[in-house]
Amino acid sequence: MSIAHGIRQLGVFGAGQMGTGIAFVSALHAKVPVLLHDASRDQLTKSLTFIDKILSKDVSKGRLTSSEASEAKDRIQIVDSLHALRDVDMVVEAVSENLELKRRVFKGFREALKEDAILATNTSSISITKIAASVIPEGKSAASEEGQKAAGRVVGLHFFNPVPVMKLVELISAVQTSKDILDRSRAFAEACGKEVATSQDVPGFVSNALLMPFINEAIMCLEKGVATRDDIDKTFRLGMAHPMGPLQLADFIGLDTCLSIQQTLYTGTSDSKYRPSVLLERMVDAQWLGRKSGRGFYEYNDN
Ligand code: 3HC
Repeated sequence: MSIAHGIRQLGVFGAGQMGTGIAFVSALHAKVPVLLHDASRDQLTKSLTFIDKILSKDVSKGRLTSSEASEAKDRIQIVDSLHALRDVDMVVEAVSENLELKRRVFKGFREALKEDAILATNTSSISITKIAASVIPEGKSAASEEGQKAAGRVVGLHFFNPVPVMKLVELISAVQTSKDILDRSRAFAEACGKEVATSQDVPGFVSNALLMPFINEAIMCLEKGVATRDDIDKTFRLGMAHPMGPLQLADFIGLDTCLSIQQTLYTGTSDSKYRPSVLLERMVDAQWLGRKSGRGFYEYNDN
């Protein structure tokens, strides 16, 4: 028997690429009302415009009727205060990869949201266990009943970019996550039309612990002159049927994001195989961040 996720209203915190995609699949496939929050009104407007664009494309390709598209759109409401999320049954955080920022956001969830709301993070590498520890009520110990209950509702729900297209969600249990929260989170990801793979809470989880050394090796090959940019990417596109070569994929993910995940892997394991390449560091120093900034290993004119 399938487990009910029990999410009657969802909050998405952060309306960048990932948050926008998560709001989209939740409204369209799980058919759940979504409150989408971001500190920037501009970002919220951009997010809605993008959602409109992909819904219209799906209508024009005959995948959705116009009423299905407008129902999905109507399920998404933008909100500019955390307080507006007070009644959600689950929130998915999708802010940038920074532990201190995430700790602050989760403390805010503890104060503003219902006591039994599921608190999910879309982090791609930061310890879910560390994030969970930040929701323990002040003055309570981690071992107390209140402490365990609070931290037990934090879970990792790692979506992949572009969220509407990629079929996977990686489900990560913190040391503290309760079984019920894990089961309901899995059921929710499945309702969003995704397949679930589980990983333990290790730096980078399974996905980025394997992907990032691959991307980093590709950058080191380029740095050492082993092959050209185009030949490195062609090798994987045509030789291994990857949709993008590793350098193109690094640009797509964002070079700052790749660097920050690699730093988490390196500091979290002290294993030199995760040391970020100097070229990657220099490109981020130069603000050549990949597709989003118009320049990375490639140049882009569509920004
Ligand atoms: N949002 C929604 N839909 C998108 C999209 C986006 N951002 N980007 C592309 N699409 C859709 C297009 O609209 C198109 O839809 P259609 O079939 O209805 O026309 C479809 O995807 C294919 O797009 P295109 O024809 O424009 O281009 P491609 O065929 O080259 O595909 C791609 C683009 C889907 C991005 C493909 O190149 C790909 O799969 N690349 C690899 C992506 C990948 O590996 N992602 C994981 C990154 S790692 C990660 O996210 C983890 C993190 O922790 C780092």
